[in-house]
Amino acid sequence: MTTYSLRSASPAKSRADAVVVGVVSGSSGPAIAAGGEDVAKAYGRKLAPLLSALGVTGKAGEVVKIPTGGTISSSLLVLVGLGDEPTEQAVRRGAGAAARAVTNAASIAVALPADSPGLVRAATEGFVLGAYTFTTYKSSGATKTTNEVIFLSADARKKDTVSAFEEAQIIADAVARARDHVNTAPNDLRPTTFADDIAATVKARGRGGKVTIEVLDETKLAELGCGGLLGVGSASDAPPRLVTLTYSPKGATRHLALVGKGITFDSGGLSIKPAQGMGEMKSDMAGAAAVVNATFAIADLGLPVKVTTYAALAENMLGGSAMRPGDVITIRGGTTVEVLNTDAEGRLVMADALVMASEQEPDAILDVATLTGAMVVALGDKVSGVMGSDDVVADVLAASKAGGEDFWPMPIPEQMTERIRTTKIADLSQVDWIRWGGGLFAAAFLREFTAGLPWAHLDIAGPSFNSGGPAGHVSSGGTGVAVATLVEFARAFADEK
Ligand code: BES
Ligand code: MN
Ligand code: ZN
Repeated sequence: MTTYSLRSASPAKSRADAVVVGVVSGSSGPAIAAGGEDVAKAYGRKLAPLLSALGVTGKAGEVVKIPTGGTISSSLLVLVGLGDEPTEQAVRRGAGAAARAVTNAASIAVALPADSPGLVRAATEGFVLGAYTFTTYKSSGATKTTNEVIFLSADARKKDTVSAFEEAQIIADAVARARDHVNTAPNDLRPTTFADDIAATVKARGRGGKVTIEVLDETKLAELGCGGLLGVGSASDAPPRLVTLTYSPKGATRHLALVGKGITFDSGGLSIKPAQGMGEMKSDMAGAAAVVNATFAIADLGLPVKVTTYAALAENMLGGSAMRPGDVITIRGGTTVEVLNTDAEGRLVMADALVMASEQEPDAILDVATLTGAMVVALGDKVSGVMGSDDVVADVLAASKAGGEDFWPMPIPEQMTERIRTTKIADLSQVDWIRWGGGLFAAAFLREFTAGLPWAHLDIAGPSFNSGGPAGHVSSGGTGVAVATLVEFARAFADEK
């Protein structure tokens, strides 16, 4: 267990094993960033030649460790590049890189730019998330020895700085739990066990946790007419679940519904995926992980907004009872869908959950899903797409900025309304016969199940899973993307009247 604290102490006099200081890459060479002034002063004229000899440039992602030899109280100085400007995002990334670079320090003082609540939040989130590891399956888990991280800020006693620091820990913790869910092997995280795990968390939080849960099993789903979840989950021996979380604080005037795609493994079904990359399809429940963990964070932050969260959990497998291309299924509420590709399963489970959400007539619905490869082709693996009602999309974009995540608006072209109806035998076509713009078709399909309510669809197929190495605060594997954006959306939503 690492403890985090916020103090207004001098980094040069800190007795921590390591001190982290930022470096900006100025036009006249690298310079120590705000927060590290005392350290720069302690080195005095020796600093410039030292940076030059070590080849320090201050470019983003750079981490250089220097034994201090007593120049400052701490024995190790860690310089992290922040690029041209120490923005919140630069600090978030730099703090993450620093956390990963320091492998053998019991205590670390972080003296990155911290003269606003936003910067303190960025440094805290960045550091906590950069230090994230997933060792569940490592028999000899190389456990980190850090037990104390001290964030240094001149504003350490200011109320809004203290709350930013505390909130950052709540949000980072929720992001880390979402990463855990995604990283857990798909043989251990099935619709049934995922639902059990969420229920166990709700139970452990207790009444003070302010979140209640309802889990609908396959019998209940059949009674409710949830043909999407049942169809997609039909070949798995772990049947589908719809998990509903409710956070309803006293005095809340607005109601937000969150809906997440929770395909615990997406083999593609009978329209089976190629072997390459199938192993990453354990991450097809990242939307559910995001909405569930964001809900816990929203409750922990005590945001004054009612939130109802739906996690649509199913496993997309093959077998004698599998859904076939050509099948017609009936979504809750009676809409029939002609299934032509069992690998487009996400929209089917989301349809049921969106109908369940719409029935409560919330003031807005956000859905989060690793929905389409087309969105990854369009935006790459670091940017998520957002589509839906113009005002909700605008609010999601603003929230993503506040949360430090990259979202980009995508259209739902008019013609999609027709294209989702080209089927000759059912109400809706599940997939398009034109390959292009598959992410937009999918959004148009989902919109059919939102009862005209204010809504946005977040397609996180790319950013939900990092198949490369860690970078900044983003670890390998599950990233926990969308959690921070959902929390910021809820925060702003609570303030709107
Ligand atoms: N889970 C996938 C989408 C996906 C792709 C997520 C890549 C993460 C990375 C989804 O269920 C899927 O298979 N979608 C198909 C839809 C197609 C058959 C219309 C796709 O995008 O290829
Ligand atoms: Mn699929
Ligand atoms: Zn999928």
